Amino acid sequence: MKNQRFFNRKFVPAAQIRRLWKGMVISMKTVFINGSPKKKLSVSSYLLGIVRMLVSGEVVSEQVRNQNDHKRVLENIKDADAVVIGLPLYVDGVPSHMLAFLKEMERFCLEHDIRLKVYALSNGGFIEGRQNKPLMQVLENFCKRSNLEWCGGIGIGGGVMLNVLRIMFFVYLGIFVLNVVFAGIQTGNWLPMDAVQHFAKQLGIILFFNLGVFFHSLRMSIAINKGVGFGVKFTRVLLPSFLFILAADFFFVIISIFQGGIFKGWLAKK
Ligand SMILES: Cc1cc2nc3c(=O)[nH]c(=O)nc-3n(C[C@H](O)[C@H](O)[C@H](O)COP(=O)(O)O)c2cc1C
Repeated sequence: MKNQRFFNRKFVPAAQIRRLWKGMVISMKTVFINGSPKKKLSVSSYLLGIVRMLVSGEVVSEQVRNQNDHKRVLENIKDADAVVIGLPLYVDGVPSHMLAFLKEMERFCLEHDIRLKVYALSNGGFIEGRQNKPLMQVLENFCKRSNLEWCGGIGIGGGVMLNVLRIMFFVYLGIFVLNVVFAGIQTGNWLPMDAVQHFAKQLGIILFFNLGVFFHSLRMSIAINKGVGFGVKFTRVLLPSFLFILAADFFFVIISIFQGGIFKGWLAKK
């Protein structure tokens, strides 16, 4: 703790000293920045959470939703070794509130001579992970201008579906627990094999759809732990495109009914 306070003092280039002492005195600090404007249940928080679980050392989670968050987050990256920016794809690019943050971050990093490793996790609603390519290029250019080290990222397609699958996991888990409790109370059998098999099957399907994300997240976290570059990779929810389109159409019809009626938008007075 004493060392930590010493290195965090304003005039000490903490990140450089951390690197020198890496593995001996204090561990690496990685700041995970969620760039989704959603308060909760964003896809970005899900993706950042997976990588975060696998990263060692000090990890800090932050979110940038508007200008009020800038100062706090920038102060937090001052003594960090790496940042992982998770953000949604908006109109094939970086969301405008994150562009404003990146501008501030550029100024801040140059002013304080901050050298960070930057990784990114971006996701879009469309199925093709490659849709995130222009966003990755923007982040690479941002790093060049800010004198930061661009270490690459993962561009993910079908983000909304991954989020639905994550919610489904908890629904299935809840149903499974209820099944076990009811079977236990009614028959005394606290391990009903049919419920276990059913849950295992559902879990297997969810895991399969997420395989690409899990694989690349694992590789990214290894790169972060080693402090090396990762390159830019693209992946997606592992569902054939024609099935994805059917599922997405069905999903959005249901959502639009729940959010005010299917024809509301079409018939509203313009
Ligand atoms: C204003 C806006 C623009 C969007 N533009 C795109 C886009 O160009 N391509 C795409 O694949 N998804 C697009 N999306 C969908 C989001 O990227 C998608 O819902 C994502 O999963 C949201 O991530 P989050 O939950 O982390 O915020 C857009 C969404 C909004 C609200």
